[in-house]
Amino acid sequence: MKHKTLEYLICPGCLPEENSLRLGDCRIADGEIVEGNLECGCCGSVYPVREGIACLVAKEGEKAPFSVYETPEVLSTYLWTHYADLFGDPDASGAYTEWAAQIEPVSGAVLDTGCAVGRFSFEMSAKCDLVIGVDLSMSFVATAGRILRERQLTFSVKEEGMMGSEKSFRLRPKWNPQKVDFVAADATALPFRSGSFGCVASLNVIDKTPRPLEHVRELCRAARAEDAQLFLTDPFSWSEAICAPEKWLGGVREGRFAGAGLDNIARLISEGGELPACPSWKIGRRGAVWWKIRNHRNHFELIRSQFLKAQR
Ligand SMILES: C[S@@+](CC[C@H](N)C(=O)[O-])C[C@H]1O[C@@H](n2cnc3c(N)ncnc32)[C@H](O)[C@@H]1O
Repeated sequence: MKHKTLEYLICPGCLPEENSLRLGDCRIADGEIVEGNLECGCCGSVYPVREGIACLVAKEGEKAPFSVYETPEVLSTYLWTHYADLFGDPDASGAYTEWAAQIEPVSGAVLDTGCAVGRFSFEMSAKCDLVIGVDLSMSFVATAGRILRERQLTFSVKEEGMMGSEKSFRLRPKWNPQKVDFVAADATALPFRSGSFGCVASLNVIDKTPRPLEHVRELCRAARAEDAQLFLTDPFSWSEAICAPEKWLGGVREGRFAGAGLDNIARLISEGGELPACPSWKIGRRGAVWWKIRNHRNHFELIRSQFLKAQR
């Protein structure tokens, strides 16, 4: 974990109070905190930093809801999805480059919620002073941290059945790993001070959390009150296996979130009534990008992810 990340941190267990964390005895290597504990002086919670990754998930908070994101198979799938263009795979999609192109240069820090294995965070490092990627999956965040440290990775992708092949990639020279950090955290109880980020991003997360409204609230809280960008993209594959329909932000015929998810989120953040503590956003571009996930060499998921960009 980078020292400058410390400045942004608060205890997620004390939210909505914002209480600082104190770094206890720690081991530093190459200027980064490798091992140690972050302690809340108020509630007494202790958050470990292990192998350079801080785990800032509150004990009572959301536990990793989908163990699927912790499995080696899904890790490999996401590594392909994020980095296949870097090893010249002709089937790769350009989704992350397209999404990154939607963001104007940012003075200050960017937050990438649900960062998985880190591609969008690395993209953002070319446009800002600091990027913090957060995800609930320890497997994803630890792998993103390894890519950050080593600037490269070799991993196995599934070809067919039990057969796989090795792929290797290196981070693009235009990205700046010195500006990137990854922490394990819950996108519905973010361990960051209000108003910390010049840009907050949520890529394909809103339909994967059991608490989508809290996720939007937390994005709005973590962003600066002014001179801030918000970027949200999602296929809106609402599923009862993840979240009860009463909590969906779209995809239902009745209730306050009747209709399409993207319309409802645009209304939610631009009207501000549902998010009383947050200044409202001005909605900018809306659109869609084709995003591709590869399960094995003959099996891909082609997903239309709808985005909106907003500023305040
Ligand atoms: C469909 S994947 C999208 C990953 C990445 N943003 C992308 O577009 O490639 C959803 C991600 O959200 C993460 N996630 C789900 N619920 C979360 C939560 N409450 N807090 C943080 N991450 C979460 C998962 O671990 C997973 O990495």
